[in-house]
Amino acid sequence: MKALVLAGGKGTRLRPFTYSMAKQLVPVANTPVLTHCLENIRSIGVREVAVVVGGGEVEIQSVIGDGADLGLEITYLVQDSPLGLAHCVRIAADFLGDDDFVMYLGDNVVADGIGEAAERFRAQRPDAQVLVAKVDDPRQYGVVEVDHDGRVHLLAEKPLHPRSDLAIVGVYFFTAAVHEAVADLRPSHRGELEITDALQWLVNRGRVVTASDYPGYWRDIGSADGLLDCNRVLLQRVTAAVRGRVDSTSTVRGEVVVEEGAVVTGSELVGPLVIGAGAVVNGSHLGPFTSVGPGCLIEDSTISDSILLDGAQVFGARELRRSLIGRWAKVGTGGGGAGRMLIGDHSLAQVIA
Ligand code: DAU
Repeated sequence: MKALVLAGGKGTRLRPFTYSMAKQLVPVANTPVLTHCLENIRSIGVREVAVVVGGGEVEIQSVIGDGADLGLEITYLVQDSPLGLAHCVRIAADFLGDDDFVMYLGDNVVADGIGEAAERFRAQRPDAQVLVAKVDDPRQYGVVEVDHDGRVHLLAEKPLHPRSDLAIVGVYFFTAAVHEAVADLRPSHRGELEITDALQWLVNRGRVVTASDYPGYWRDIGSADGLLDCNRVLLQRVTAAVRGRVDSTSTVRGEVVVEEGAVVTGSELVGPLVIGAGAVVNGSHLGPFTSVGPGCLIEDSTISDSILLDGAQVFGARELRRSLIGRWAKVGTGGGGAGRMLIGDHSLAQVIA
């Protein structure tokens, strides 16, 4: 089996972060979402992976490289514009050949792994297998209707009036049968070649498409709230490890990771919490559910349920919660008696009145 990972697209719902980085590289529990995907792929024994990249090509390659660190052989395929998930299968046709493959959306966090689903696909070998999970608002997803025997008979992409609450999770298993479907597709009303339409094409021709319930935690990081929720969940899976320096006037409670080169003085750390390499924390209360990226600087602040990306700085912030702070951004007091902000397009700042 091979793998196809989709890491192109625009990431508009995660602006302003996606103005300067591919959304699949946004860190969750201090690890890029894309790395979480690739680790799940490796854990089902797949080695050959193609990663579809768009505008974020150079940055993704510089972070993930040739995959050797992850035990993978990665081939990059450039998609000139985001013409849809099925378009990605089209451009990967040569790489995939006649092999079975798992297609994995690079913005999906599938926290409990894909081992069971892979086993089921390998044992039953339907023409295609989707993972599904019940959601509150199916209108934001691909939606399936399933027979009592687990066979899919109807699919719709982001329907206005969903006929079920079963959403498609971003991990699909395919045999080579999908290539004929993908080759025959026309763009949808949103101008994309939809993988949902390719699956319906197979169903309409009597091919076997099955749905497998995904009982674990799953979410796409499409929005700030999605990202913070994923961060909470993945942080709950970390194990305490203090490799940096925490002085004797600081306290540490719960699962706290302090990476090498980080220095913590006069602070309270409450897990789950990760503090990246080289970060400096002084006189602050951090956590729970907080990821502090490498090289951050935090002083006299209280931060919980938040993500700080590489090099972010926070000074004198009395209470920051459910916040996302971008790379090398500075948040703090000062400004000569008045508030002062230099924030980019589509940013959000909520001040304490
Ligand atoms: O998250 C699950 C949902 O993902 C499914 O329920 C939907 O059926 C499926 O269509 C998809 O919907 P999204 O609207 O969330 O897909 P999005 O445009 O965010 O793209 C998913 C990933 O694929 C993301 O990492 C970007 C990448 N992508 C997307 C497009 C349209 C590409 O690499 N190329 C593309 O052309």
